[in-house]
Parts: sequence; structure tokens; C-alpha cells
Amino acid sequence: MSRTIIISNRLPTKVQRTAKGLTFQPSEGGLATGLGSIYQSGDNVWVGWPGLFVEDPAEEQHVTEQLQQDSMAPVFLTEAEIRDFYEGFSNSTLWPTFHYFSQYATYEQAHWEAYVAVNEKFCQAVLALAGPDDTIWVHDYQLLLLPEMLRRARPECTIGFFLHIPFPSYEMIRVLPWGAELLQGMLGADLIGFHTYSYMRHFLSAVSQMLGYSSQNGQIETPSRTVLVDAFPMGIDYQRYADAAASEAAQAHARTYGAAMHGARVVLSIDRLDYTKGISLRLRAFEELLHRYPKWHEQVSLLMIVVPSRDQVAQYAALKEEIDELAGRINAQYSTISWTPIHYFYRSLPFEELAALYRLADVALVTPVRDGMNLVAKEFVASKADQRGVLILSERAGAAQELSDALLINPTDTNQLVEAMHEALLMPEEEQVLRMTHMQTLVQQYNVFAWTELFLNRLTYSKIKQLTLSTD
Ligand code: F6P
Repeated sequence: MSRTIIISNRLPTKVQRTAKGLTFQPSEGGLATGLGSIYQSGDNVWVGWPGLFVEDPAEEQHVTEQLQQDSMAPVFLTEAEIRDFYEGFSNSTLWPTFHYFSQYATYEQAHWEAYVAVNEKFCQAVLALAGPDDTIWVHDYQLLLLPEMLRRARPECTIGFFLHIPFPSYEMIRVLPWGAELLQGMLGADLIGFHTYSYMRHFLSAVSQMLGYSSQNGQIETPSRTVLVDAFPMGIDYQRYADAAASEAAQAHARTYGAAMHGARVVLSIDRLDYTKGISLRLRAFEELLHRYPKWHEQVSLLMIVVPSRDQVAQYAALKEEIDELAGRINAQYSTISWTPIHYFYRSLPFEELAALYRLADVALVTPVRDGMNLVAKEFVASKADQRGVLILSERAGAAQELSDALLINPTDTNQLVEAMHEALLMPEEEQVLRMTHMQTLVQQYNVFAWTELFLNRLTYSKIKQLTLSTD
């Protein structure tokens, strides 16, 4: 029987070493929920890095066995591989380049070589598991070379690839010394998916200009095969958020937080620590709101959750200091005995508390400078059982293509951000309900399960189409 093999850099389970021994915790990401129903059924399996270094072969064996019981196959990475492949090429070359931060990008031959070697390591791990009739679904920018590596080893295999971050303009890709190899790597797939049509268009343009392959209606003709390309905007597990926000526990948490904030209106900001998220621009805009509209003093607080991430990469450490300094400065200037303008948490929160914050918030401030999709925007929408609340959303997040009922802003335009916050805080309830209802209908319908099904159905179709073309 054929099966589906999912591959991503991280597994949906995080393994951590604690004083009490190893712990196995589910990863928070939306991908894990969405694909949970797939990899845990039948003989399917998820291949990826378990998130810790293992040197002891007995421990490696133990981790492997534990994960196997839950349909996962670990790829163990060494400290040097994490440094050069993950922190290096993936997060210091590809991540900044694909998010239009080329000033942060480094171009190190050693990082590239580690990237090739780790993609090859993943390839070997998949080949050890995959049969000729299996469907292989590769995820994200850490594994751009993997589809082509698999294709060379198994020319007949069905391979899908999905990119979870933006695909930038050709002008960014051409800067990369290894741009053509990366495109060739992706073209090993039968179907390549992006969150939006503009990412897809950028990809087609880069393929045409750098490799000379033409395309029509999202169908690329390479010298050996036809590759389909399409947009599949990723969704969330809508019901999980709706239920959690409506639960007794979330209501109790929300009441406690509300009381602790002395009834101030809540503007919520939740992100991984990342320069792409526009966190410092957002803080400066909140400072300007307090300066321009003193009526909001003691009436509004910014509740800012920053989830630690990639702290070994230089720019992330520097950004943390900048945010700490900004939040401290604004609080020092505006706080009163009974009011704290910014409640700042540098940690991840348990799901129930997150749901309570979504429920409590009057305004969600989702203002990345670049973001492939941004699921926080959709989680906020799903959590609003009474349809009250306003989403302020960056036009440069993939989610803006769908959520046109949000207040869409340019995140680098401080003035626009200030006025959007002011407008959101004054928005009549009927308008909030109208906008939120539209967005809920959309987010509920195009949820993560629909996304998975759509991609996998299209992958099956693309394979059938290829087989038909090759026998014509
Ligand atoms: O958005 C891209 C992504 O790789 C997600 O898949 C992941 O949840 C997030 O960035 C954080 O990635 P990591 O902690 O593995 O670097």
C-alpha cells in the first residue's frame, strides 16, 4: 500500500533534555496540527530533526524508538550542522534574502556546503523509508535541494514541495551565488506550492530568467519533465481556536488578566522574535499613539508576547536588546502607579493562555514587514466568538490577500499604524462584527485540513497528468 511521507526540518515533536531526563512535547506550529491527521494515519511517517543533539548511540536509539511509536523518523544533526546549515545557510542566507533583508544575508561557501550535505542526509533518511509508490511531501526553505535529490534517486516518485515563507522577486534571488542550484532543487518536485499568487509569479519569473524554462498557466516545461506550480494559502485548525477561546478555562484566564489590567483596553501583539515581524516599528508606533492621543493614557495597554527564536544568530540577539530597550523606555516615560502601557513577555505561552489573550484583546496588531502567511492573524479571528475585536494587518503578510476586512496598513508607515490603532479603538461595534464575520467565514472554510487536502489532491492530479503526457 502506498503511503505519505512528510519531511520538514523540525519534527512536530520537540525532544528536550531536562534534569528529569528526556521530554517529548508537541511542537506549537500550525503545520503539526494540520498534518497531524495525515502522518499519524496508516503507515505514514514524518521525517525531521528532533531538536536536540545526541552523541550517545544508546540515547539516539531510545529517541528513535520513542518517535517511531508516534510515526516519526528522526534525522539527527550535529552541532556543526546546526551552526552551518540551520543558523548559517538557512537562517543567515535564505531567510533574510527571501524576506527582502539582503543587508543581513551572509554568503559563506562553508554554509552552502553544509546545506547541501544536510539536504543529502535528509534524502538518505527518506530513501531508507520510501517505496516507489509513496507520496513525498517536502516542506520549506531548509530543504530546497531535497526534491531534486530525491528525483535523481527515484525518478518515478510523486514529490510535492511547499514553501512556507515568501518567494521574493527575481532581483533578490539573482543576488544569491547559488540561486540557480536552489531553483533546480525545487524543480525536482511534481507540484510546488506557495501561499500566494505573487510568490508563485516571482518563482516563475526567476525560473524563466535564471534557467530559461518557460511556463504557461503555472506549468513549467523543464528539459526532462513538466512541473506544476500553484498558490495554496495555508489555514489553521479553526475549531481548535474557537473552542479553546470559548472554554471555561480561557474565560477564567481572560477575567484574571482583564482585572489585572484595571479594565484598560488591550492591543495584542504576538510573534516569534524576528526582524521580519516589525516589532520595533510597532513599539515606536504605540509610543507615537500615546504621544499624539493622550486620551488613551490609562485606557489602553499593549500586551506584547515575544517568543524566543534563533538566538544564536547575531541579528536576533541584537533585536532582542533593541526591543527590551524600547519597551523599557516607553514604560518609563508613560507608566503611572495604576497603568503600565506595555506588558511585555519574552517567552512562549501555553495554548489555553494564548486562547484567553486572543479572547480578551480588543485589537490585534499583526504588522510584519514581510511574512509568508502569518497564522496569528487567523488565530485571532477564529478566537472571537462574539465577533468583537479589530485586526490591524500588514499588507505585506500573505494573510492580507485573504483578510481584506482587516485594517490593512503599510508596516513601515508609522503614521498609518498610529491612525489605524486610533481607528480600531474607536470602531463602532456593528462595524467590528461585520468585518469579523466576513473574516471568520473565510478562515473557517479554508482551514488547515482543507489546505492539506487541496495540496495532496492536486499532487495526485499532477502526477496522473505527467504520466498521461509521458505516454502520449
Ligand atoms: O515560518 C517558517 C518557519 O520555519 C516555520 O515553519 C517555523 O514554525 C518557524 O519558521 C520557526 O522555525 P525554527 O524555530 O525551526 O527556526
